[in-house]
Amino acid sequence: MPRFEGKVALVTGAGRGQGRSHAVRFAAEGADLVLSDRCADLGTVPYGLASATDLEETVASVEAAGGRAVAMEADVRDTAALGRVVAAGIEAFGGIDIAVANAGIAGVSTIAAMSDEEWQNMIDINLGGVFKTLRAVAGHMAERGSGRIVATSSVVGRVGAPNIGHYVAAKWGVIGLVKSLALELAEHGVTVNAVCPTSVDTAMIQNEAFRELFLPDQSSYTMADVEGAFTELNPIPIPWVQPDDISDTVLFLASDEARMITGEAVPVALGWNARTAA
Ligand SMILES: NC(=O)c1ccc[n+]([C@@H]2O[C@H](COP(=O)([O-])OP(=O)(O)OC[C@H]3O[C@@H](n4cnc5c(N)ncnc54)[C@H](O)[C@@H]3O)[C@@H](O)[C@H]2O)c1
Repeated sequence: MPRFEGKVALVTGAGRGQGRSHAVRFAAEGADLVLSDRCADLGTVPYGLASATDLEETVASVEAAGGRAVAMEADVRDTAALGRVVAAGIEAFGGIDIAVANAGIAGVSTIAAMSDEEWQNMIDINLGGVFKTLRAVAGHMAERGSGRIVATSSVVGRVGAPNIGHYVAAKWGVIGLVKSLALELAEHGVTVNAVCPTSVDTAMIQNEAFRELFLPDQSSYTMADVEGAFTELNPIPIPWVQPDDISDTVLFLASDEARMITGEAVPVALGWNARTAA
């Protein structure tokens, strides 16, 4: 029997990238999907976000993989919109078994130069949005006595990093939130974990702002320069992992095999953490 036969998985930020990959992989292993995305750009984000068409493409890919899907535009900062997403999922499929709080943004600024708006959008989406997503499903899962929650943090959720201090602060916060909710839900059959990726080959890093961050002294550069700069971060010498590589860990944490694991922050990091203190 497929690993997620009869299960329902909610994924935020499902319009593209890792969120789409998780959704399609869940569908391929038997799950039905409840999908959401903001589907609009945001002023402080130096690259475009997913569109409504992207979210429709995710739905088509889920269906092609054998799953059913309900999809709604919803910003993770919007409590009422998230409530509608959860309600639509329960109405369509009878409940939510798995929630993946994946939606997020990136930005580039030193702390000294950061505007209030850049800071606030980052914290409201990458930390507040995870809080609101977790809150939207926590009571439902606790009442049913089962559930799997996975939130996306980052390798920089455990170290400092220059030029992305707001992102780092939010991703540290996600780990604290996950550990706290894990304790609150442990006796209710619900596990709560974080996944901490290194660079992933998505639009979040494949944009001019991030290329300039990695190659600040070069007025022009080739893709080989970019790959070389990203590769320097990783002991396993490749520049980035693929969304599918993160889905492997997200699906494991959402599976029955991970029922004894809660409150953890699991790296998929090409050896990144081998250089940090244990
Ligand atoms: N790409 C990387 O290198 C990397 C590394 C570590 C962690 N992450 C994290 O992985 C997660 C997925 O990112 P990705 O790499 O797939 O990038 P992505 O930009 O391709 O996907 C992010 C998705 O979130 C959506 N989104 C953004 N703001 C939203 C909001 N307010 N409400 C609802 N949806 C919103 C976007 O539209 C997009 O579809 C994020 O939490 C990100 O911080 C990414």
